[in-house]
Amino acid sequence: MKVLVVGGGGREHALAWKIGQSARVERVFVAPGNAGTAVDAENVDIAHGDIPALLEFAKQNQIDLAVIGPEAPLAAGAVEAFSSAGIRAFGPSAQAAELEASKVFCKNLLRHADVPSADFRTFSNCESAIAYLIEREDVPVVVKADGLAAGKGVIVCDDREEALVAVERIAGAKDFGEAGNQLVIEERLVGQEVSVLAITDGRTILTMPAAQDHKPAHDGDRGPNTGGMGAYSPTPLATDTLIREVEEKVLVPTVHQMKRSRRPFRGVLYAGLMLTKQGIKVLEYNVRFGDPECQPLMMRLESDLVDVLEATIDTRLDEVSPMRWDPRSAVCVVMASEGYPGNYEKGHAIRGLDEASQVTDVKVFHAGTAIRDGQTVTNGGRVLGVTALGNTISTAKLQAYTAVKCIRWDGAWCRKDISDKALQ
Ligand code: AMP
Ligand code: GLY
Repeated sequence: MKVLVVGGGGREHALAWKIGQSARVERVFVAPGNAGTAVDAENVDIAHGDIPALLEFAKQNQIDLAVIGPEAPLAAGAVEAFSSAGIRAFGPSAQAAELEASKVFCKNLLRHADVPSADFRTFSNCESAIAYLIEREDVPVVVKADGLAAGKGVIVCDDREEALVAVERIAGAKDFGEAGNQLVIEERLVGQEVSVLAITDGRTILTMPAAQDHKPAHDGDRGPNTGGMGAYSPTPLATDTLIREVEEKVLVPTVHQMKRSRRPFRGVLYAGLMLTKQGIKVLEYNVRFGDPECQPLMMRLESDLVDVLEATIDTRLDEVSPMRWDPRSAVCVVMASEGYPGNYEKGHAIRGLDEASQVTDVKVFHAGTAIRDGQTVTNGGRVLGVTALGNTISTAKLQAYTAVKCIRWDGAWCRKDISDKALQ
């Protein structure tokens, strides 16, 4: 069969690489892809948001399965567009993708489903949010733009003054555009963060091993927030008991509530959780594989991913055998461009990729890369996700950083402490 993966980041490289390992798959296309997917699959020069062009390509090339990586095309109805044209597509409908695309929708759904989450209020203008902040006790809060803001619409505040500035940025100056038409102000929680991703067809839930992301730019979780500077799986924080609790208190009630709301959820349900003193709480939902969490997960997945994706689309996940995972640990270190998450240059030649991929149990997933005049060059903020397997988290970390040391370009940097949280 022929598969089209939509997107061009590290997540899509990992998905395309894994899908290509299926005995049933002849060709894998990635739109738009990157320099890594150009080697492990075939790139198609169509942006991930250009749904009509993607559909046209899929029809002309007899695509059997489309896998949508990023949230934006999901929220824009990519899955419905493919399905109406008779092409099987993996991911939630636009209505179900609201779980990520609208934080107001998400918080209300969690409240109705009785899923533990931070206390919150929603606002549809600047004035009412400001009045609320002035009236209430001065406690740390988090101010969130309702809509999609490329992971930047969440502002964690220490005090009222910072919260007022955040409200002004989101709902006054509209720093995140329309995403700020509504906002959520919620209680600031404290604890370790864990990502639990599950694949569900709306009836059966297959929970994947937990992973931990590293959002802040610098070591020790300092500096500005990023899309994620590294991830590892499994995490010792997520014991079997904890995973069972997440299924029972979070995933099952969410999937049921989505069905009751007539938005049956099919796809990857990614719960961003905080382990607080009062127990687990949901920080947010994503409706897709996480990036970079997807990279260590795909490194560890032993089952045929295509079987699982197809069973999800056909609502027969109950028939597939449980996913098999390599018991070893995987660590993914993101290498980034100088300046990221702020402004950065593109087009720097990347050296040492071959050397890096020869390190045992290492796979270098590409994210922001491109090929110019036959050379692999930087083309984004997060450039590579160097991922390694190891018998322990420490050996996986060592292998990943051994490969990282082989790779050079002007301004390349990475966090040096990916997975150390697991060892504390
Ligand atoms: P989100 O985009 O919702 O994942 O938020 C980005 C990051 O903001 C999360 O990974 C957390 O580190 C932080 N965050 C979100 N909500 C809260 C909260 N209620 N309390 C503390 N931190 C939060
Ligand atoms: N790693 C966090 C995300 O994909 O949103």
